Amino acid sequence: MTGKSLDGRIAVVTGAASGMGRTHAKRLARMGAFVIAQDIAAAGLAETLAEIAGNGDRAEAAVFDISDVAAIEATMSDAIARHGGIDIVVNNAGIGVDRTIEDIDEAMFNRMIGIHVKGSFFCARAAIPSMKARRWGRIINVSSRWAQAGHHLASDYIAAKGAILGLTKAWAKELAPHNITVNALAPGGVWSRMVLENLGEEGVRAEERQVPLGRWAQPEELSETVAFLASEEAAFITGQVISPNGGKTIVGF
Ligand SMILES: NC(=O)c1ccc[n+]([C@@H]2O[C@H](COP(=O)([O-])OP(=O)(O)OC[C@H]3O[C@@H](n4cnc5c(N)ncnc54)[C@H](O)[C@@H]3O)[C@@H](O)[C@H]2O)c1
Repeated sequence: MTGKSLDGRIAVVTGAASGMGRTHAKRLARMGAFVIAQDIAAAGLAETLAEIAGNGDRAEAAVFDISDVAAIEATMSDAIARHGGIDIVVNNAGIGVDRTIEDIDEAMFNRMIGIHVKGSFFCARAAIPSMKARRWGRIINVSSRWAQAGHHLASDYIAAKGAILGLTKAWAKELAPHNITVNALAPGGVWSRMVLENLGEEGVRAEERQVPLGRWAQPEELSETVAFLASEEAAFITGQVISPNGGKTIVGF
């Protein structure tokens, strides 16, 4: 997707202080969207905003915990009042920790569901009335390849990412009459802070050897799929799960 095809659009990207959230925010801003970049991490978000401004594009920061529904609603209604509406929501904020079932306690489980499922649900919910009013909307929910394939650890994370696939399909049907498309991005391995904290660089290198293309992606590569799903050209695509994963899901175990 090239050019300024999102000129005049207002986009919210959650988890925009690092990794893919940052590159999604930069990519949508390059396409002309005004980006509301959300994250719990203020310092990283300031870097994202500086990079967007350095490209000559436009964005503002929203710093809060995405599991805080009151904060979502206050931020979104303020943004809608100032900008006239929200056209695009990228539900990207996330945490991931490789834990066994026995190591996942109630607080961890609630945190995982709170960030991924509750955060995605209420962020979209706050934007949907203005999308309906404008008869145009794009919701892009970030799931994971693991939600499709499973994994031997992190079942709380996979439960949350599986719920996101369910939300995607249900919302696609509920919102289709309003010309709002809803799709899920289910990345395979992507070099980011989250995975480096879990696996370390050597761990990622070992995982890369299991991928048919022989490598993990850089965050920017995933942003090309987000750019496409947000574009006019993707107007007939809804309820779909797109998994850029280097061929990993065709390997099987
Ligand atoms: N990296 C991968 O291999 C991979 C694979 C599949 C899916 N994903 C998903 O992609 C998304 C982006 O992850 P990433 O790999 O770029 O990791 P990342 O850690 O670089 O980015 C995640 C961002 O979410 C933010 N965040 C965490 N908790 C938050 C909260 N409570 N409120 C607001 N923001 C919060 C973090 O501060 C961070 O900026 C996540 O949803 C992740 O689960 C990543």
